[in-house]
Amino acid sequence: MSDDSARDAERQQLLEQYAEIAALAGGLAHEIKNPLSTILLSLELLEEDIRESEASGSHRMLRKVETVQRECRHLQSILEEFLQFARVGELDLQESDLNEVVAGFIEFYRAEAAGNQVEISPHFQNDLPTVRLDRSLFRQVLMNLALNAQQAMPEGGLLELQTYSSESEVMLDLIDNGTGMDADKVEKIFQVFFSTKPGGSGLGLPTARKIIQAHGGKISVATEQGRGTRFTICLPSSS
Ligand SMILES: Nc1ncnc2c1ncn2[C@@H]1O[C@H](COP(=O)(O)OP(=O)(O)OP(=O)(O)O)[C@@H](O)[C@H]1O
Ligand SMILES: [Mg+2]
Repeated sequence: MSDDSARDAERQQLLEQYAEIAALAGGLAHEIKNPLSTILLSLELLEEDIRESEASGSHRMLRKVETVQRECRHLQSILEEFLQFARVGELDLQESDLNEVVAGFIEFYRAEAAGNQVEISPHFQNDLPTVRLDRSLFRQVLMNLALNAQQAMPEGGLLELQTYSSESEVMLDLIDNGTGMDADKVEKIFQVFFSTKPGGSGLGLPTARKIIQAHGGKISVATEQGRGTRFTICLPSSS
C-alpha cells in the first residue's frame, strides 16, 4: 500500500470513529434529558410540599432544594445547547436579503438590548446581493453573537451591525466596544466547551461557526483587549 492510500485509510477510519462518537454523545444527551425533566418536576412538587409545611427547618430544606433545581436547570441548558450543536445538518435555504434578516433580528433583540444599556447601530449597504440562508439557523447565529457582545459590555455599550459586499461575497460585521480579548483567549473561543463565564456552556461560538460553515461561509474575529471585538461573517452571494 502506498503512503498516500495508507494515510487515506487512516483518515477514513478516524472519520468513522468520530461519527460514531458524535452519534453516541447525541444519544447520551437525549437519554439524560428525559430523567432530568422528571427530576425537575419532582423537585417542583417537593418545593411546593416544603412551602406548605410548617415543619421546623423547612426554610433550610427549601434553600437546598432550590440549589439542586438551579444545578438541574443548568444541566438542562447545557444539554439543549449541545443537542443544537449536534443537530446542525440539513439546511432549509431560502434566497434572502441579509439586510432584511438582520433588521428583523434587531427588531426582535431591541428590547433585550435596551434592558442591558446596549445601543444598536445598524449600517446597511444598499442593493446588497442576495444570499441563500437558513433564516432560523442564521438568527440563532446572530443571537449567540449579540448575547456574547452584550455579556462583554456589562455596563452597556454600542453594538454595530454593518453589511457590505465584495465581488462574490456578502459580509456582516458585529462590532462591540466591550472587554475585548487577549491573544491567548481568542485562540480558544471556537473550541467546544471553552467558556470564561460562570454557567457558560462554551457552545455558542462553535455552533455559530458550524452554521456559517454549513452555508459555505466563514466567520472570523478581530479583537483588542480593553477596546472591543469585531466578528465578521462572510457568505457566498447568490446574485
Ligand atoms: N464579543 C466578545 N467579547 C469578548 N469575549 C467574547 C466575545 N464573544 C465571545 N467571547 C469569549 O469567548 C468565549 C466563548 O464564547 P461562546 O459563545 O462560545 O460561549 P459562552 O458565551 O461562554 O457560553 P454560551 O454557550 O452560553 O454562549 C466566552 O466565554 C468569552 O470569553
Ligand atoms: Mg455565548
